[in-house]
Parts: sequence; C-alpha cells; structure tokens
Amino acid sequence: MTRRPLACVILAAGKGTRMKSDLPKVLHKVAGRPMVGHVLATVAALEPERVAVVVGPGMDDVAAAVAPAPTAVQRQQQGTADAVRAGLPLLGGFDGNVVVLYGDTPLVTPATLEKMTAALNGPEAPAVVVLGMRPANPHGYGRLILNADGGLDRIVEHLDATAEERAVTLCNAGLMAFDGARMGGIIGRIGNANAKGEYYLTDAVEIARALGMACAVVEVDDTSEVLGVNSRAELAEVERILQNRLRTAAMINGATLADPQTVSFSHDTVLGRDVVVGQHVVFGPGVTVGDRVEIKPFCHFEDVTVADGAVIGPYARLRPGAEIGPDAHIGNFVEIKNARIEAGAKVNHLTYIGDARVGARANIGAGTITCNYDGYFKHRTDIGAGAFIGSNTALVAPVTVGDGAIVGAGSTITGDVPADAMAVARGRQATLPGWAARFRAQKQDEKSRKA
Ligand code: UD1
Ligand code: MG
Repeated sequence: MTRRPLACVILAAGKGTRMKSDLPKVLHKVAGRPMVGHVLATVAALEPERVAVVVGPGMDDVAAAVAPAPTAVQRQQQGTADAVRAGLPLLGGFDGNVVVLYGDTPLVTPATLEKMTAALNGPEAPAVVVLGMRPANPHGYGRLILNADGGLDRIVEHLDATAEERAVTLCNAGLMAFDGARMGGIIGRIGNANAKGEYYLTDAVEIARALGMACAVVEVDDTSEVLGVNSRAELAEVERILQNRLRTAAMINGATLADPQTVSFSHDTVLGRDVVVGQHVVFGPGVTVGDRVEIKPFCHFEDVTVADGAVIGPYARLRPGAEIGPDAHIGNFVEIKNARIEAGAKVNHLTYIGDARVGARANIGAGTITCNYDGYFKHRTDIGAGAFIGSNTALVAPVTVGDGAIVGAGSTITGDVPADAMAVARGRQATLPGWAARFRAQKQDEKSRKA
C-alpha cells in the first residue's frame, strides 16, 4: 500500500492548572523527557512531512523544546477545534493525512497512529477517523455514537450527553485523523453552541456526516496508551506505565533485571546483551551500557558510557561525562564525574574521581580524592596506565601521575609524579619503643595520688 503523506498537529496550549506548576504541563518529564517530546518522537517514527505544535501565549519554553517543529499560538483557549484552527496555517494547505494529537498524552504508540491513518485510506474513504477506547470509568469523556452499519455518526461530549448517551461505553480517546483535503472545510464550520461554549473538535464528525462524508472509529488495543496527564498523580501513573514498558524492552533485548520494579530507566537508556542490573538502580538520560556489564544494587547513572565487561557498584554514582572502559571495576561509594576510567582499571572503594583520566589497569586505593576544584576553576588529574595510588590519597589538580608510578598511602600529591617513580607526601613515622607503657604507668600514678 502506498502511504499518503502525513502531517501532525500537536495540541499543547493547555496551561495545566491542576499541575500547580510554573512549568507548562507538556514540559513535565516522563522517563527523563518532556511529555511533548515523547509525542514528537512517536510521530517521528511515521516520518511525517510536517509537524505543527499549538501552544498558549507566552509558552516560549515549549516552542524551544519542540524546535525545529514550528509552533502556532492559540490566543485564547476556546476549545480543541479552535486550537486546531490555530495550527492549520502551519500546514499550508496540506492535503495528505493529518493526525491531531495531544501534548499531554505521551504514551500513544506509532502502531496506533498507523492504524488510524490506514483507516483513512480504507474503502469508505472516511474524512475523519477517531480513536476510540473503552475506559473502566467513562465519566467526562466524549461518547462515540455509531450508526446502524457501524460507522461513526457523531461524538457527544459528556456534559452535553443524555442519560442514554452516557450509557455508551465507547469513548473518544482524543486523537483524530483527517483527510487533509477535506479538513479545512470541516473545521471551519465548527461552532460553539454547547454546554461549555467551546469550539469542540469532536463536532467535526457530525459536520462531515451532514456533508455526506463517512467517519470511522479505530479502537485502541490498550487504554493506557491514551492516558492524559492533568495532575501530578496522573503524571506518576504515566511514568509507572512507561517504566514498565522500558523494563520489558530491556529484558526482551537481553538484560537481566533482578527486581524490575525497582529499576528506573530513561527513555534513551541503552543496555547491551547479558547486562545484569541489581535492585534499585536509576538510569538518568544519556546512558549507554555495553555487553556483559554487571551493575550491582543502588547505583545512579546520568550521561555515562560503560564499556563491555565492566563491574559497577553497589552504591556507585556515575555522573555526566563518566566513561568506564572495558572490564573496569567501580566499587561502593565511588563517584565518577567527567572522567575516563580505562580498560581494567579499578576504583573500588570510597573515592571521588572528577575531571580525570585513570589509565588502563591502574589501581586507585580506598578513599582517594581528586581535588579538582579550587573554588573558581576545575583542573585535571591524569593517572597513567598501571599506576598504583595508595589509600587515602589527595591528588591536587592539575597533577599528573605517570605510567607505573606508585603513590604512598595517605599522600597529598601536589607535584607531578614521573613514570615508574614512587612518591610519598606525608609526615614521617616516629616509633618510640615502650613509650605507651611508660605513659600509662605515669598517668595511673598521678590519678591514684589525687584520689
Ligand atoms: C477532549 C474531547 C473528548 C475526549 C477527551 C479525551 C473535545 C471537545 N473533547 O475532552 O471527547 O473524550 O478529550 O481525553 O475535543 N487544548 C488546547 N486548546 C484548547 C483546548 C484544549 O490546546 O483551547 C488541548 C489541551 O491542552 C489538551 C487537549 O487539547 O491537551 C484536550 O483538551 P481538554 O480540555 O483536556 O479536552 P477534554 O475536555 O478532556
Ligand atoms: Mg482532557
């Protein structure tokens, strides 16, 4: 089947009053990405020729977030048809298929959009295709009223519906697809004579029918796809559903999740094959993990790459710019930021490595700190291959430790250490034989004379 060209209009003018937020609703994040970003990614899978986003006045941050998709401003919120009317000029007389989506309904899948556009190309050549659903509680949704032969006759909004119409369980999920050639004429005829005094996009169906055009319903398989977000509780519910999808996808792609419900993914997390993820691991945006990596419980990742065979955690924090090399070990209570840990290097205990390179097979002792910040600027630490940094070492950057060098435990290193050298920077040890015994005897004596 040859696909007709596609355009998408995303409605995002709603202020989201019930979110009680300074942030426009569609910029609230789900799995690390704004809701409207999810909608854009979903429509992108269908390779639309044009995408237009309708925003409210002053929503420059939404416009910036959706760029390069152009935005139109809906001056006053006078209903969903009014919003579409604001967006249509951006499509410039487009006569392919046009799908209208909501920016606050981020879980819809490309497969559902495909089903809707396929229905537009069906034998009846409908002018409008509506996405239907059967929610557990239909209260508040528009009801889809079918005619005798199963075609869609009209949509009646909950507030305008009779008791008989409210008994209908098939509801409007909100997404609608139009034949672009006929869309402008239909939308132009929509008025606002209804309970809310708004321009209802749903009236498109009745108008198309009156013009002798067919309309159709496509039912969504999984109602959770069309869950809209109006409150923080609904945001959390959408997050939960998306996390479950991402967990399932990770397992299908060959990762073991010890306790999936406790692992939190970002929309863009990439895990290799035979990765094992322990309990309570959080992946922030921008994380790529290679094959056979073991991530032990309670780790946090953000903007990080981990190469094949590395072992991470438990309780490791990998911050932006951390690059963990193949077979490297990052242990408990270790924080890595903007640093490359090369192949087979070990940073196993209680350590901060920031703005640094740790060469291949180097061993970083417990409690090592790269002192990377002087209060004004960040400085780099470079540790060579095979170097050994003794426990409780402070490396005051900028500083270089050469290949194969050894730093004695407890050192504060302020000068470069050449390759294969040994550096120690701490007070010398004084050992006084018998001193402790004499000290105790003397103090005991003083105490008994005072009593
Ligand atoms: C709409 C449908 C209803 C459907 C329900 C599904 C209409 C008239 N009704 O009702 O049949 O069951 O969605 O959730 O379409 N928006 C704008 N500008 C406006 C109005 C709305 O951009 O002037 C945006 C909102 O930000 C939101 C979306 O359009 O993302 C839907 O608007 P909303 O007010 O939630 O419509 P409902 O009353 O829920
Ligand atoms: Mg709504």
